[in-house]
Amino acid sequence: MNPKRQRILSGIQPSGDIHLGNYLGAIKNWAENINNYECFFPIVDYHAMTIPYDPREMPNRIYNGICANIACGLDPERCTIFVQSFVPEHTELCWILTCVSSLGSLERMTQFKEKSQRQADREGINTGLLAYPVLMAADILIYKAEVVPVGEDQIQHLEFAREVARRFNNTFGETFPEPEPKLSQAPRIMGLDGKNKMSKSLNNHIAIVDSPEVIEEKLRTAVTDENRKRRSDPGDPDVCNIFSLHKLLSTPEEVAWANRECRVAGIGCIECKKALIQHVIDLLTPIREGYYQIYAKPDYVREVVVEGAKRARSIAQQTMAEVKDKCGLKLGGGE
Ligand code: TYM
Repeated sequence: MNPKRQRILSGIQPSGDIHLGNYLGAIKNWAENINNYECFFPIVDYHAMTIPYDPREMPNRIYNGICANIACGLDPERCTIFVQSFVPEHTELCWILTCVSSLGSLERMTQFKEKSQRQADREGINTGLLAYPVLMAADILIYKAEVVPVGEDQIQHLEFAREVARRFNNTFGETFPEPEPKLSQAPRIMGLDGKNKMSKSLNNHIAIVDSPEVIEEKLRTAVTDENRKRRSDPGDPDVCNIFSLHKLLSTPEEVAWANRECRVAGIGCIECKKALIQHVIDLLTPIREGYYQIYAKPDYVREVVVEGAKRARSIAQQTMAEVKDKCGLKLGGGE
């Protein structure tokens, strides 16, 4: 192993279905970098507590997240996969970082504003939702990770993590590097509704474990250019979600064909979708098969995260010792 490799950290919430947006926007980018960086990929279960959930479902959601990460190409021999709550130093550092975090910055976070607006009154908003980016900063800074590959929706949180690192360094002395975001080629995958980004909570997603039949059905009914009402109307690929997936997954010839023929109503949406449907099925079939193979091996899955947490913890403990020392959290000698 090359000791000079930079460190990557990126997390995913155990929110049930991991979807094509997570894969193309983030996990694929993680898998492509595991040989060039020293990588840490937590399943961030503490983050998933910030919205209402059923505690009986959480253990399986965590399990599924681990299986999905491995099936998507994160080989546990070459990177560290673990569960956030298995490494208690994350929450320990989170508290300390809370004490250098700006309330104004937290209140300005788009995701906080969106999620808290769904609550009828202020009393219903839990503090975890507000402090969410502080925990995310702790996830990253505890490993002194330099690079954080994420989708576009996490960029603001990462800016916040950089601000927290600066504030800590200014207050207590140089400790943390400012982590750099690393976007994939597909930082924002739109959902099947054509309006919002693909997201589990909006149910506009293709899960990475969807069967070919389900993928076909979901894409067949996915929204395209909404102004193209009839088959004879020319369409505009530039506003079509299906075309943006074509650009990512189809051959240059297919992309040129769809681009050309849509504009002159030479093809209908169903015809245009056919080639794409096959590409999505081809992409996800090995992932789905790998997922079920791993899913059937609970001992192996447990070993991966126990081993992962051990590796992660030894670094996290070193950072915590340094941080506590710098913050003066130690017993004086009475002098
Ligand atoms: P989460 O669980 O919502 O998503 C995991 C990753 O998938 C990306 N992503 C997308 N990318 C493109 N198009 C989409 N439609 C799409 N939907 C999701 C996300 O940007 C993310 O990279 N707060 C984080 C988890 C987290 C974290 C961290 C990330 C916790 N601690 C430390 C980085 C570093 C989140 O909720 O991701």
